[in-house]
Amino acid sequence: MHTIMKGLKKDHHNLAKVLKIMELQLERIAEGDDAALGLMYDSSHYIQSYPDIIHHPKEDKVFEVFKHRSKDEADALKKLTQQHMDMPNTTDKFKEMLDTAINGLEFISREDLVKKIKDYIELEWEHMDLEESVIFPLINETLEDKDWKLLEELIDADSDPLFSDSVEESFQNLYQSIKDQAA
Ligand SMILES: [Fe+2]
Ligand SMILES: [Fe+2]
Repeated sequence: MHTIMKGLKKDHHNLAKVLKIMELQLERIAEGDDAALGLMYDSSHYIQSYPDIIHHPKEDKVFEVFKHRSKDEADALKKLTQQHMDMPNTTDKFKEMLDTAINGLEFISREDLVKKIKDYIELEWEHMDLEESVIFPLINETLEDKDWKLLEELIDADSDPLFSDSVEESFQNLYQSIKDQAA
């Protein structure tokens, strides 16, 4: 497997860790524990800072090259590309809703809050699963050396603000939770 695909799969592996933390916070929030909103907010901030603006654009470049090689799974690719376009906005709205809930600026029922969080987490899993189960294997078997050479020129090495040697200040709590979860 090419390094670019290994990098994308590693991103997925990392996002899965964050989604699991979000699921745990969701359980707490559903039980009325609003303190869990903080980690939920940090998680959405992470998704906004890396998966939405760095990871998905990298995938878009790989998908674009793939589309020149094959017409397979065109519908799935169309759906994923559209989701890539929509996701920054979806995350932004989600993050804003959490901010509002944290600051108690607007009344939002627990039922509504829990449903919105659940829907967001589900969208993230569903998107990633479609890439992992259908598109990535197809790309791995279709792209040739020259395609990867081209992509190496198009894709820069970026560092993840949470899963790297130096974790950004605003992600320290989330980083600690992921570490505790793994222990
Ligand atoms: Fe994606
Ligand atoms: Fe992805």
